[in-house]
Amino acid sequence: GAAELGPYRHYMQKEIFEQPRAIGDTLEGVTSIMPELFGDKAYGVFKQIDSVLILACGTSYYAGLTAKYWLESIAKIPVNVEIASEYRYRDSVPNSNSLVVTISQSGETADTLAALKHARSLGMQHTLTICNVSTSAMVRECVLSYITRAGIEVGVASTKAFTTQLVALFLLTLTLAQSKGRLSDVDEAEHIKALRHLPLAVSAVLALEPQIIAWSEEFARKENALFLGRGLHYPIALEGALKLKEISYIHAEAYPAGELKHGPLALVTKEMPVVTVAPNDALIEKLKSNLQEVRARGGELFVFADADSHITSSEGVHVIRLPEHYGQLSAILHVVPLQLLAYHTALARGTDVDKPRNLAKSVTVE
Ligand code: G6P
Repeated sequence: GAAELGPYRHYMQKEIFEQPRAIGDTLEGVTSIMPELFGDKAYGVFKQIDSVLILACGTSYYAGLTAKYWLESIAKIPVNVEIASEYRYRDSVPNSNSLVVTISQSGETADTLAALKHARSLGMQHTLTICNVSTSAMVRECVLSYITRAGIEVGVASTKAFTTQLVALFLLTLTLAQSKGRLSDVDEAEHIKALRHLPLAVSAVLALEPQIIAWSEEFARKENALFLGRGLHYPIALEGALKLKEISYIHAEAYPAGELKHGPLALVTKEMPVVTVAPNDALIEKLKSNLQEVRARGGELFVFADADSHITSSEGVHVIRLPEHYGQLSAILHVVPLQLLAYHTALARGTDVDKPRNLAKSVTVE
């Protein structure tokens, strides 16, 4: 009811603002990396596995895509990420030493449960879920689990479930790196410190809301938008585009920025807002030249930079700067302004933010 909403207009907005608490709770008690974070049998399972197969749908799938970058870069373990509804019906080559990771807010998504059963039927018995509901079918079906502590998520468009999934997936990355002898004590301590600072870092990003509201008024008048990111931030661009389409009904597509020239550049005119996720990572210089290609065609850029990105506002280039540069974890910070942009754009268009047309919070039938 209205009381539970407190100062917020919608559950989605409340849930966006709950993220510092949700992330803090998801990390509660984590002072060092150890397999037991994922269950009693994790030590033995993690020693045996040589690869990871991630299965999920929707926003949870994008969390999986993000995790692939972490797992391959930090733990050096090969990862496949599959949309559950595709995986369950296609012929694939099973690897019995693969760790099957399902990601699900609800733990009841029919396609993801069926994909898990399919993997098991192919002989893959090492199963782990990252799930927000400890009593769900998914948790019962998997050998190992990590329960995110987002709390009940009401808004159909997932927000705090996503960022807490990312936190859990980063912990999984560190734990697998440790199991494979690829995590030094020094690195472990640094990663834990960065994780524990996340709630404060997310709060600082939430404080950018007034600037994002100003942008949303312009977005509300558009029918199309393009989202760009590179590397780790490509899945974040995908999630930003998904949020915008789900609740504002603006057609949005995400591309890895290097792929612009292979198609989407044809769509760029002055009517096309181009949202760019631009933290100061290894690809920033390449991203900047992608942005020039957009500007040269008259496209209007809306850039989420960070403290170190060195991108400044100019004609047709609008910049909001996240207060910190956050290395590998910056994906968790950069999705937050995209959630706010979708929310405020939807609000300006007057849509039913918490219950977008044709969508359900949890899809328990095929
Ligand atoms: C539905 C929801 C999405 C969610 C997806 C997967 O489509 O509307 O927000 O990402 O299901 O749900 P899950 O509970 O498995 O994460």
